[in-house]
Amino acid sequence: MTNQWTPHTWKDFPVEQQPDWPDSDELESVLKEISSLPPLVFAGEARTLQEQLGNVCEGNALLLQAGDCAESFDSLSANSIRDKLKVILQMAVALTYSTGLPVVKIGRIAGQFAKPRSSPTETKDDLELPSFRGHIVNDAEFDAGARKANPQRLLQAYHQSSSTLNLLRAFTSGGFADLTQVHSWNQEFVTHSPAGARYKQIADGITDALAFMKACGITSKDHPALHEVDFYTSHEALLLGYEQSLTRQDSTSGEWYDCSAHMLWIGERTRQLGGAHIEFLRGVKNPLGCKIGPTASSDEVIKLCETLNPEQRPGRLTLITRMGTSLITERLPELIQGVQDSGHPVVWACDPMHGNTFSADSGLKTRDFDDVLEETRCFFNIHRDLGTWAGGIHIELTGDNVTECLGGADKVSDEDLALRYETMCDPRLNASQSLELAFQVSEQLRN
Ligand code: PEP
Ligand code: CO
Repeated sequence: MTNQWTPHTWKDFPVEQQPDWPDSDELESVLKEISSLPPLVFAGEARTLQEQLGNVCEGNALLLQAGDCAESFDSLSANSIRDKLKVILQMAVALTYSTGLPVVKIGRIAGQFAKPRSSPTETKDDLELPSFRGHIVNDAEFDAGARKANPQRLLQAYHQSSSTLNLLRAFTSGGFADLTQVHSWNQEFVTHSPAGARYKQIADGITDALAFMKACGITSKDHPALHEVDFYTSHEALLLGYEQSLTRQDSTSGEWYDCSAHMLWIGERTRQLGGAHIEFLRGVKNPLGCKIGPTASSDEVIKLCETLNPEQRPGRLTLITRMGTSLITERLPELIQGVQDSGHPVVWACDPMHGNTFSADSGLKTRDFDDVLEETRCFFNIHRDLGTWAGGIHIELTGDNVTECLGGADKVSDEDLALRYETMCDPRLNASQSLELAFQVSEQLRN
């Protein structure tokens, strides 16, 4: 790909996973309208995130990327945004304490709407309808009207992203993220959850550290770093028309940024070299992620690095591996070795969710907490053995008390799944399972 890049050169390449929009004039007019609306993020923020990811790349920080599989138009509320942020902040504090390193926090939020599908249609009782592709495209209900791709939804996704981001900015700078408060939530988890008791030692350690800092005169009153956090947004850059319409030229640097989120990632189904998604994303200057599944070869991954990060900038590219517990030990070491030998700087992140999905006996799509934990553990062990830096984790979670993944300290069983199975797409860890994961990883990293 040595062609001259512009925000629309992707149109000359084969493109996967785009909806079949029934009315192309309406689509064009909506995209034109979005092009005239303000950007959701500012290029300078994306540059700062890239610097922070550069620190992760160099082994001086960790990455925690987490949030919904698919955000919903129906469950937008201040409480759900708050609770998701809360659990991410709690996880980050545990990881920071155990490693002594800053944690770069990125939500799968404020734009994580579009979903790739394994089949373009779904058939029930002889009725074949387009697959549900996320609320930015159509509705999940199995009904011909609901499944029709509707371009007006692109606008609604933009506005929902904007109001979500607005509240996140308020929470993260207005005192909600105060370290003492986040720690008190963790103490509550340790005291009240059946999962909590074994993490008392870590929680007590944080209590002592805060008391020590206070005695030294370091409190959130006069140290904004204890009172505010940097929190970034991300989503899978799937619908290229939408992403293009939010791509703007930065007036200070002249560079192009996709201002729909701070970080964008390319999914496992759209990372073809020579495909439109790679073409589009190689030209924007945001930090990028690319999912890497078990079928990827090390040559392919190195070519992805060459195309997406030809200047070899640390922090530009995060490889999010999602091998599954059964394949990680077989597949990951070779890829790490290949990339390492090529000299490409990447952040390695582990997505222990997408390689571990299966249908439970009840028919519901689920994941087992033990598999999620096991893939994460293997990821850290493999990097330790190879002497490379395991940069972080990428998790699908919610702050709500859902029953979508099996196991965890509350021992969610197959029969429990239907009780509160609320996801729009993939099964997410609930708040308690997410904290348990963070504390278990913290224990592993401390040891
Ligand atoms: C996702 O992250 O929700 C997703 C679809 O992942 P992948 O592209 O890795 O399958
Ligand atoms: Co998912």
